[in-house]
Amino acid sequence: MSYYRLLVVSHAVDTGGAERGIIRKLRNIDRDMFEPSFACPCEGPVTHELEKLGINIYSGHPSKRLLDVRRRSLGENRLAIALYPLAFLASVVRLTQLIRREKFDLVVTESAKANIYGTLAGWLARRPVVNQIHDIFEAPVFSDLNLWLVKTVASHFASRIISNSEASKRALVDLGVPRDKIHTVYYGIDMEIARNTRKAADVRMELGIDPDAPVAGMVGRLVDWKGPDYFIRAAAKVAETVTGARFLMVGDAVHGEKSYVDTLKSLCGELGMADRIVFTGFRDDVLDIVSAMDVMVHASVLPEPFGLVLIEAMAEGRPVVATKGGGVPEVVEDGVTGLLVPPRDVEAMAEAITTILGDRKRAAEMGAAGLKRVSELFTVEEMARGMEREMLKALEGR
Ligand code: UDP
Ligand code: GLC
Repeated sequence: MSYYRLLVVSHAVDTGGAERGIIRKLRNIDRDMFEPSFACPCEGPVTHELEKLGINIYSGHPSKRLLDVRRRSLGENRLAIALYPLAFLASVVRLTQLIRREKFDLVVTESAKANIYGTLAGWLARRPVVNQIHDIFEAPVFSDLNLWLVKTVASHFASRIISNSEASKRALVDLGVPRDKIHTVYYGIDMEIARNTRKAADVRMELGIDPDAPVAGMVGRLVDWKGPDYFIRAAAKVAETVTGARFLMVGDAVHGEKSYVDTLKSLCGELGMADRIVFTGFRDDVLDIVSAMDVMVHASVLPEPFGLVLIEAMAEGRPVVATKGGGVPEVVEDGVTGLLVPPRDVEAMAEAITTILGDRKRAAEMGAAGLKRVSELFTVEEMARGMEREMLKALEGR
């Protein structure tokens, strides 16, 4: 049996879309052909899932201390700033040694930071490296230094690059990364899991929502750029005309920004929406909750690179109202599987939600079209085959 030893390098081990993707890909790639291991700074939800798949974890690459120092104290500590590049190089060297010692044939880097240190390590170890891109690399979201690093590493040290949408690809090409190195592989969902959700009525009962109430919900990290405040404002407008409408806010703030949730809750209070919106907190049964919605709302104010939550809604046969930007128009077909609205436009968002909640027939048609689209274009199988294809091309080019 000929197989390749694959090292996946990620700096993040939490539960964002990119990290979920790692688990889905590694669960679905051909294990007769690829034997994956995983390098990351520390343990977390992702490593626990990967361990269940029998995947070897190399924790401490780079050391967690390096990341913590950077986050907490670089601002004030000049010595730490001066030493940071050295510490960074030291972790690249340690990762290079790991790749050599464990005889990995190929490195795949996930997450913006890992794309830098993982690619350099793979290159130093003389192994082909595939960069998985999850972001739209452009100013002002990323600093000039960051963009320069991404461009330089992707152009000169990576063998191939997988982008999660044509929008992410375009941003790289605009930076100057050679177009023919980059291939889009869309994110995918496990349709088998999507088909087996709990009964919507049970989920609604658990959340204290009437079985017949019109329900619109948003799913995502509660961070500013995902636009939860726009969703709340739009919900308040919808509530003026759609009797009995209820709203769900699914997700939690990221570490250290918990007070943002309080800000959002007080906004609900100010708008008289406290009783109408349920904050579920972080849920690991998102598909169940989505299947209890009539429409999913996606409110990002910055261009969303892909948006896993969109295909989760589609896989549950739910129409989507989403802000138009980034990869979203590649996922949601406007007027067919949902309605696209301009970002930061509360009126337009409210109108689109009201339209869908008010027309059950159209909503059902859009949901069915979404389900069809996701089963054709956005499945885990497609995603895993795409990743395998790019890895094999990188290996051929050795
Ligand atoms: N998610 C979750 N529980 C929550 C909120 C979000 O499991 O309470 C998941 C969501 O289902 C999706 C992922 O987190 O799979 C978010 O991915 P997306 O690509 O939409 O956005 P990202 O956070 O990666 O920018
Ligand atoms: C990032 C992006 C998100 C995308 C995910 C998977 O987290 O923010 O849009 O869906 O990566 O590629």
